[in-house]
Amino acid sequence: MFSNEFFLFFAVATSIISWIQPVHGQTISGIFSSSDQSQLLQAITNAPSFASGSGSADIVIDETTVYQQMVGFGSSMTDSAAQAMHNLKNANSDMYNKLLKNTFTTQGAALNYLRVPIGASDFSYSSYSLDDVDGDTSFNSFNISSAPSYLFSTLADIYAVNPNVKIHILPWSPPAWMKDSNTMNGGSLKSGMESSYPTYLLKAVQGFKAKNLPVVAVSIQNEPQNSDTTYPSCKIDDSTQATIAKSLRSLLSSNDLSDIKIIGYEHNWDGTSSYTIPMVNDAPKAFEGAAFHCYGGEVSETEAFISKFPNIPMYLTECAGTTGSNWWNDVQWYVNNLWSPNVSSMTTTASTGLMWIIASADNGKSPYPGSDSCADGGCRGVATVTTSKVTFNQEYYSMAHYARAFTSNDGSTLGKKIKASGGYNTGDDKKNNFNVVAYATGDRYSLVVLNNGGSTQKSISFQGKQAKYTFPTGLTTLWWTGSNTSTKRMIRKRRISK
Ligand SMILES: *[C@@H]1O[C@H](CO)[C@@H](O)[C@H](O)[C@H]1NC(C)=O
Ligand SMILES: *[C@@H]1O[C@H](CO)[C@@H](O)[C@H](O)[C@H]1NC(C)=O
Ligand SMILES: *[C@@H]1O[C@H](CO)[C@@H](O)[C@H](O)[C@H]1NC(C)=O
Repeated sequence: MFSNEFFLFFAVATSIISWIQPVHGQTISGIFSSSDQSQLLQAITNAPSFASGSGSADIVIDETTVYQQMVGFGSSMTDSAAQAMHNLKNANSDMYNKLLKNTFTTQGAALNYLRVPIGASDFSYSSYSLDDVDGDTSFNSFNISSAPSYLFSTLADIYAVNPNVKIHILPWSPPAWMKDSNTMNGGSLKSGMESSYPTYLLKAVQGFKAKNLPVVAVSIQNEPQNSDTTYPSCKIDDSTQATIAKSLRSLLSSNDLSDIKIIGYEHNWDGTSSYTIPMVNDAPKAFEGAAFHCYGGEVSETEAFISKFPNIPMYLTECAGTTGSNWWNDVQWYVNNLWSPNVSSMTTTASTGLMWIIASADNGKSPYPGSDSCADGGCRGVATVTTSKVTFNQEYYSMAHYARAFTSNDGSTLGKKIKASGGYNTGDDKKNNFNVVAYATGDRYSLVVLNNGGSTQKSISFQGKQAKYTFPTGLTTLWWTGSNTSTKRMIRKRRISK
């Protein structure tokens, strides 16, 4: 009896409190993509508001625990991707402009980070470097325009629709004459060339700058542990990469390019301990990031890197979808391994997220003569682009939900990851997967939830207020405006103590 009366009193008291307190509703907006693809980046119309609430919540957002600064999401712009987009521009400029808007602005996927090969890659049409004159160690014959003009014009068009886009350049191989194989395909950097090669990379940065493109970063070598004789590739060991990075760092600085970051490694998770860690150890001041690919090992292996170098950001710069694979399985894999992996320290997740090519023609095969790259299945682009049709793939939708979360509405500012609890991952094959991640971008807060467990209602707590939302099966991004109340308290305290 007593307890019933108590609860009655409690219920009345609570309702009076919520009645007298003005409800500072913080309106939530959002987008949703369903696991069955019937809704894709659909604006959410039934989003709740944060209102006063009490008790524990299912999802708790903690703005005082701040993780890494996001740098951007995007993809690689190979010659083949630029060619596909350029062909569409010539055939149907309206469709091309829509492709740019839907991919690179906050009205679409808000992608802002492009990785661009220096010279030929496995998605070029022929072998070339930016200086193919034998023995030209002074690089007098270096010519940035050896790369196809449609590559530069496509990048310029993207820069025009997204002035915040960032370009990260890197070679798939040094020029053939700098290698022991004397070809772009496979082999290693010739010994002695580590003193000349940094000048080639400097010239590449200057060349892209001279084309008025916003280069922010350069890497020494794509996949430096891979020598494949069927396409541009080159082995460079960890200590050689560190030596090259040190001279490149000083060359960049003495050429007024100190803002260009050198991002090391650029290969699979499984080389973290054997390559990435000793490489950065050798040149800790030269590297401002280490980039990983998803094709070997597990994302959890990067924890060893982050715990050793907590102030050097980890980048995720390459992962390719295989044509014909399952849409929703892929989305879940990307979320659980790339965008929001469950590792012991959330800071081990990457500051960038890039899928392989931004655009591919129908079959996703490598156009490089004789190449065995992407031979089985074919590598799907973020968009499949022909001269009459654009199809956005699972890579596009999965990145869009996160990029839209951490990018300000005007595209100018990227957020930091903040703590959010309430995710879980149970059952075989992650059957009851509920993946939760939050970001703060200035005064814009956001939450991304992947739900694979059937429609479920959750309470979300933010700064002591709560909202209830029923998450359908799929990927949901919610955002709202708020101010950092802990900052305010700190400022007030400081004023009082003056
Ligand atoms: C650079 O290459 C482009 C394209 O092949 C060519 O048109 C141009 O003349 C070259 N520039 C020089 C200085 O050789
Ligand atoms: C993450 O993994 C740990 C064990 O490694 C587990 O205890 C925890 O429940 C997992 N969290 C999620 C959100 O799956
Ligand atoms: C909010 O303010 C606190 C206190 O100044 C600070 O530690 C925290 O990093 C801030 N959070 C964000 C997301 O900026």
